Amino acid sequence: MDEFKEEARAFDSRINERVEHGFIPDLRRLEPNDYFYKSFWRHPHYADIYVGTMFRNYLDFLSEFSFENARILDIGCGAGYFGLELARNGYNVVGIDISKENIDKANQALAENTYGDGFGSLEYHVGSYQDIESLGPFDVILSSGFMHHIPNITEAVQFMCDSLKNKGLLIWHEPQHADWTEFDAAFALTIRLLLSKMGLWHDDSLQGIDNNEKIMSMTSGIKEEYKLERDIDEKGGQSPNDLSCDKKQIMAAINDNFYVLLTKPSFSYIYRMMGGMRGDQKKLNEMASLLALIDETYVENNVLHANYFYGVARKGHSS
Ligand SMILES: C[S@@+](CC[C@H](N)C(=O)[O-])C[C@H]1O[C@@H](n2cnc3c(N)ncnc32)[C@H](O)[C@@H]1O
Repeated sequence: MDEFKEEARAFDSRINERVEHGFIPDLRRLEPNDYFYKSFWRHPHYADIYVGTMFRNYLDFLSEFSFENARILDIGCGAGYFGLELARNGYNVVGIDISKENIDKANQALAENTYGDGFGSLEYHVGSYQDIESLGPFDVILSSGFMHHIPNITEAVQFMCDSLKNKGLLIWHEPQHADWTEFDAAFALTIRLLLSKMGLWHDDSLQGIDNNEKIMSMTSGIKEEYKLERDIDEKGGQSPNDLSCDKKQIMAAINDNFYVLLTKPSFSYIYRMMGGMRGDQKKLNEMASLLALIDETYVENNVLHANYFYGVARKGHSS
């Protein structure tokens, strides 16, 4: 655990700050929240489009490849909103995270849960991936944005494999930022420029873009922003170990221990777009839905590249 002290500290302060500003880590209790200036957490409609879509994908994977009441480890569970939803859907869930503050908030949301019908079970632990074996064995491990925080991804995937039952499943949603191109950035910039011209963008950084050089430089800036998952003038990342690995390293580690059942692209640009819009909320919600539909359509038809991807793999080898 000691090697992840700084990582835990970063997530402790992040969740404390969010909760102090009214964030409730429960997808059924979200409220509009101005504290989030560009994130999808700014409005429940955006959160449903992004995080809700992720959750619906997890449920689809579980019903296609696993079974009702499966025992699931939500690894790097954060403040627990996916674990809570999985348990509400009848699964038996164990959540683990190195951030004690995250686990405290997850436990609080669990204590306040009023959706008891069909609830499976849910328990949380503070700990690292090196501690999971004693909590297992599991039918499924969910890595929702966990693996890319792990410098030694080969070791972590081995721990996950060892904690799964024979034929157990690994489900993930992780970055593939190396696949996100200048073309994707140009598309995102064009939308932002139009929003900005109509006074619907949160700041004036896009005003006065009136020549080729500025457009090209803004395109590089957006490409960098999406790869770093933060504004380029923002100090530091989400945490010290953020973006330790991308799709290539993650897939290499998974292929050593699992056989892959599917991979599937997630969204391309809406992640850092919807929450940056300003204006009449009813109109913004319509625009967010349209932007998400465009994103999904172009990703599915290989016009745009996703910057995250889903996957499902089974422990063992295919033969
Ligand atoms: C990007 S967040 C994802 C949170 C949540 N799964 C979600 O989808 O919103 C990554 C989480 O991994 C946790 N984490 C980082 N290193 C870890 C480790 N070695 N063992 C367990 N959790 C870890 C962090 O504390 C953080 O909550």
